[in-house]
Amino acid sequence: MPDRVKVAIVGTGTVVRNNHAPQYIDLAKRGYKNFELVAVCDINEAAAQAIAQTLSQGIESCAPKVYADMAKMLKEQKPDLVDQCLPHGLHHKATIECMEAGAHVLLEKPLTITVKTGKTMIEAGKRLKKMIALAVPQRRLPGQRAVCWAIREANLIGRPTIFTITRHEGPAGRAAGVPNPNAKPDTWRSDSINSGGGPIMDSGFHFFDSVRHFFGDVESVSAFAARVDITPEKAKAMTRPMEDSVSVNFRFQSGVIGSWNWSRAVPQAKEMLFMIGGTEGAIYHQHNSFAAVFHFFNAAGKDGSIPGELRRYNGERMTLDELVARFRQSLTKEQEAALFPYGVTHGFGVEIWDAIEAVRTGRAPEVDAEDGLKTLATIMACYESIHCGLSVRVQDVLDGKVRQYQDPIDARWA
Ligand SMILES: NC(=O)c1ccc[n+]([C@@H]2O[C@H](COP(=O)([O-])OP(=O)(O)OC[C@H]3O[C@@H](n4cnc5c(N)ncnc54)[C@H](O)[C@@H]3O)[C@@H](O)[C@H]2O)c1
Repeated sequence: MPDRVKVAIVGTGTVVRNNHAPQYIDLAKRGYKNFELVAVCDINEAAAQAIAQTLSQGIESCAPKVYADMAKMLKEQKPDLVDQCLPHGLHHKATIECMEAGAHVLLEKPLTITVKTGKTMIEAGKRLKKMIALAVPQRRLPGQRAVCWAIREANLIGRPTIFTITRHEGPAGRAAGVPNPNAKPDTWRSDSINSGGGPIMDSGFHFFDSVRHFFGDVESVSAFAARVDITPEKAKAMTRPMEDSVSVNFRFQSGVIGSWNWSRAVPQAKEMLFMIGGTEGAIYHQHNSFAAVFHFFNAAGKDGSIPGELRRYNGERMTLDELVARFRQSLTKEQEAALFPYGVTHGFGVEIWDAIEAVRTGRAPEVDAEDGLKTLATIMACYESIHCGLSVRVQDVLDGKVRQYQDPIDARWA
């Protein structure tokens, strides 16, 4: 196992520019030295060049080589870890290619575009003895870690029974992952064959990862979706219309039930409520800041606070900031160092550190491909439910028994 992990970044678009590159720099500045960025690769060589420059300016003695061809990069640099940030339709083939070349993979969410391709990736990882660590930053943030602790460990709300999320906003404020009404129709996000789906799949992956983290695996879903904000011309330009309004009912294996209702096509609206009820209390998270339908328990107050409260039926109340403080006080030094390494509380920084340490020490990553496949199957159960108009069991989607929505996508990527 390498002392210093050789890392290559493949796909240097938005998420690398805004999050991965700054977080490598931040980790290095905090004194984390267990990695070396050896290459950056993008078919758009200028984009790769710009990221290489940012990294060299931000990290001492860092000079990643720029490539436009991943196969060439893998052959010449032999990285230990590829940080893969490609469009969804390329995740499975590129991940397998990296593993075949001897690299482990830190893979941007979602795992891939269908359950079938996800299983192929997992089988390849086992055969090649390579790790796929999934980049899901939201569940690693202090707010979500604290809520998870309150529910699963500290028993602060008793047995969780029900949750409800409502979020509505006007079409002007475009949430991350939602196709831009003004975008060219041929971008990969507006084509479900390349993206796997619309917002439920894209930023929605964060939502599904988080609720599975809180409540465990989902038993079944019943979903409806609509595209409200669309002209006939735009609809014609899409392979399938992407949803902008969704209503999903869940039953979890644990017995928890819940509903997720959101739209980004309600004029003048900007409200968000996430309530988790249990036998001894409830957690309320309520505000009107941007994009919270997928990303919640983040700092959303103007003062950097996490808006909301935990209320117990015995009369005890605490703000969500107090909950986070209580959670962090409960951690041992070793736990604090594992959950917030080098004091990092940025989800991307933690996931990058976690993947590098998993390669360096041979331990499992915090979120692996099997976990990602269950999240993906829950998302696909929603699309299958929307497609067939029935309630769908997630296990049937995992077993490949329900796959009508996914069949054309699999056919394209066979
Ligand atoms: N975790 C998050 O919050 C978050 C946020 C945004 C995006 N993402 C994920 O990151 C991934 C990338 O999204 P993005 O928004 O950066 O997309 P993007 O379109 O901005 O960037 C993708 C990049 O991949 C490059 N590319 C395409 N084909 C390639 C190939 N064959 N070889 C090398 N490079 C190639 C493109 O030129 C582009 O620069 C997706 O999986 C997305 O879901 C995650």
